[in-house]
Order: sequence, then structure tokens, then C-alpha cells
Amino acid sequence: MTVGARRVWAGAAAIAVACLVTVTGSRAASAAGGQAQNAGERVPMVEEVFKTVVLLRGIPVDTFFEVMGTFASSMGNDCTFCHASNAALDKSAFATPTPRLQRARQMIVMMNALNKQYFNGQPRVTCFTCHGGSERPRADPSFAVQYGEPTLDPDARDFLTDPRVNADQVFDRYLQAIGGADRLARLTSYAAKGTYSGFDTDRSTVPIELYAQAPARETVVVHLTIGASTRVFDGQNAWVAGPEQPLPLLTLTGGNLDRARLEAVANFPVGLRQAYTQWRGGHTVLDDKDVTVLQATSNGDPVVQLYFDSNGLLVRLLRFTSTPVAFVPTRIDYADYRELPGLGVKVPFARTLTQTYMQMTLQLTDVQPNVAIDAARFARPAPAKLQSEK
Ligand code: HEC
Ligand code: HEC
Repeated sequence: MTVGARRVWAGAAAIAVACLVTVTGSRAASAAGGQAQNAGERVPMVEEVFKTVVLLRGIPVDTFFEVMGTFASSMGNDCTFCHASNAALDKSAFATPTPRLQRARQMIVMMNALNKQYFNGQPRVTCFTCHGGSERPRADPSFAVQYGEPTLDPDARDFLTDPRVNADQVFDRYLQAIGGADRLARLTSYAAKGTYSGFDTDRSTVPIELYAQAPARETVVVHLTIGASTRVFDGQNAWVAGPEQPLPLLTLTGGNLDRARLEAVANFPVGLRQAYTQWRGGHTVLDDKDVTVLQATSNGDPVVQLYFDSNGLLVRLLRFTSTPVAFVPTRIDYADYRELPGLGVKVPFARTLTQTYMQMTLQLTDVQPNVAIDAARFARPAPAKLQSEK
């Protein structure tokens, strides 16, 4: 990790306490072809919630935060690089005009003009294209880059296809590695206890409950000290209701919704292969180890990548969300696979979710397979009381 990246995390940690959210993509909701859609619910647009937004209007709130995270990530800094420094403690201060906010608005206009004029309106030039994690894009040629060791980003979407990688075989091997299809079919639900740590807890751990039901429902309740935060995927819709969120009830859309779906499917992964119609395969390196990567495309855009280690286990899931400023990745790393006693099925006891504005780790400690779970667990959660209302 570079120094710049570390600064994003350190800074974002402080901001997350005051603000953050979860997720999504605008055009993705409609472009998600065959993927989850939020049924019949009106999702508020950002300008209905945040009154000073003039350019980035007409997108859902979760998508807007992907954009803000992308800004922070592109600058190699945190939210208060542009926003007033007291925004870390007082959410309303995000609306305070600052010279950098004004500069960033000019940059949005410039970027849109470049894409429109030279790239058919496709998001080819992004904040990251120029800034690449630094406040000031480098203008001079660099010998360090030209002659230095090339760095390989395993999350890159443009890896080389290896026609010898057969997606069906990769999925078969994965199912075999976690117990085989027959045993997996006998796992239909589980209820787990564990811990959560994230930016919003300043990395200290708080208790969680996780409920999962086949084929694709999942609820995680995080017991933050300021109140419970509930994250639900009901098989079709996804919501987050928690006192740490910018809205009492945040509805996930587009790529974020689809990521929630994939996460729920991955709990009972026989359905993972069918989650997308087309996969291409290749290789990359994760933590100095060779891994196989499969990539799925939606409407011509590569949007999902799955990584399998040498034992065939799923170790990483990437979902890209379409936003007005870039395709923005969300990453889930799976680890600590353990066999459930009596079932012979392996489940990852640890997962880390990484976003441009948030990072959190779930560590399971106790997993009870095949327990009856009340259907209400997977219903839309009640809107949370926000901190200011307490
Ligand atoms: C590179 C500069 C930049 C960074 C970094 C940045 N923002 Fe923003 N932010 C903006 C701009 C520009 C706007 C206004 C957008 C518009 O007018 O369309 C804005 C608007 C907002 C608003 C709406 C304020 C209101 O009430 O009207 C919120 C909330 C917000 N940002 C949160 C964040 C968070 C959280 C982060 C960190 C994850 C962040 N921003 C990082 C530039 C930035
Ligand atoms: C075509 C290249 C390019 C793109 C695209 C671009 N920038 Fe910039 N940006 C620059 C350059 C060059 C500067 C000036 C750096 C300097 O002063 O040395 C700059 C400066 C800035 C600054 C002022 C930094 C400071 O030191 O105060 C902000 C904030 C900023 N950009 C935000 C953004 C955001 C947000 C995006 C995406 C919406 C973006 N930029 C896209 C090239 C770009």
C-alpha cells in the first residue's frame, strides 16, 4: 500500500464516523440485466437530501457517496481535503462552500467536456486518470516509472484472457473445495454471531449477528455503540438502516444492489456461476500468490471479478458500480474458511468489505447451520433514528 492510500484510510476513518453510507450505481440499476432490481420503491435522488448539490444531481444517494469516495481516492486524501475540516464531526458542514469544492466543481465540468468531445461521452477520462491518488497530477515524465519495477494491480479489469481457463471447471473445483455440491445442498440457512470492525468504529470491534438463507437472502445487524445498523438483502432489494448513515433508510441501487445480491449468493455458492451468463478467465497475483480470476460482463462493461486461490477457494469478489464520474469498485475479501461440524461444508468466517469511502471486517465466531430464521429478519428494516434526533 502506498503512503497516499494510507492517508485516505486514516482520514476517511474520521469522516466515516460523521457521515458515511453504503453504496450504488445509477445507470447500473437499469443496466444490471438479469440482476437484482429494487421492486417498486421510490429511491430519493441526492438533491432531495443534500441541498447544495448542483452538478451531480439525478443520482441515488448511495451512488453519490461512491462519487465522493472516488474523489477522496483520486486525491489520495480524505473528505476534508475539499470539505470543511469540521465535517468530520458535524455532517451539516459538508455543505460549507470551500475553494477546493469550487475547484472540484470546475474539474467535473472539465472532465465531462473532455469525455463528451473526445470519448463519445464514455467515462474514459476520470479524476483518477489525471490525479492517480495525488492532489497534483504529475506533469513531468518519470524515470522511476519508466525503468522501475512495474506494479501489478490485481483489481485491474483489463487482465489478459487465458482461453485455457474454463469457468465451469473453476466453479466446479470451488464447490468441491468447500464440500461438494451434494453436501452444499444440505446447507439451507445459517445464523452466526461474530464481530465487526470498521472506520465507523475506529477499528474497534462490536458484536454482530448474521442471518443467511438459501438461495440468496442475508441480513447483518451491527451493534454500534450509537445503535444497531441493519443491512438486508431480501432476495431482491437491499437496504441499510443505521444511525451512522446519512439517511434513516438507505436503499441500495445499481452495482451496489447487485453486490449485495452476489454476497448473499456467495453464502450458498451453487448459484454463483449462474449469477452471470458469460465469464472470461485469466490469472493474476494476490498477496504474492497466483490466483485464477473470472470476469463477468454486463451490457458490454466488465462489472464482476471473482478470484480463486490454488486450493480452488473464492478469496475475492469485486463489483464495479457505474457512477457519473467513473466505474467504482467494491471489494470483498474472503478468508478463514472453516468446516461446519457434521456437515462437511466450508464457510469463510472472515470477510472484509472495501469501498472508496469505507472499510469493514466481519469475523464470525459461531455459525449455527440449518436453523429456522424468522422471515421478518429479511424484511425491509425500520428507518433508523439518526444521531441528531437522539
Ligand atoms: C475532490 C473534492 C471532494 C472530496 C475529496 C469530497 N467531496 Fe464531497 N463534494 C464535493 C463537491 C464538488 C460537492 C458538490 C457537488 C455538486 O455540486 O454537484 C460535494 C458535495 C458533498 C455533499 C453534499 C453537501 C450538501 O449538504 O449539499 C456531501 C454530503 C459530501 N460531499 C460528502 C463527502 C464525503 C463523505 C466525502 C469523503 C468520502 C467527500 N464528500 C469527499 C467535492 C469533494
Ligand atoms: C485532465 C486532467 C485532470 C482531470 C480529469 C481532473 N483533474 Fe483535478 N487537477 C488537474 C490539474 C493539472 C490540477 C492542478 C494541479 C496543480 O496546481 O499543480 C488539478 C487540481 C485539482 C484540485 C485542486 C488541488 C489543490 O491542490 O488545491 C482539485 C480539488 C481537483 N483537481 C479535483 C479534481 C476532481 C474531483 C476531478 C474529477 C471530477 C479532477 N480533479 C479531474 C488535472 C485534472
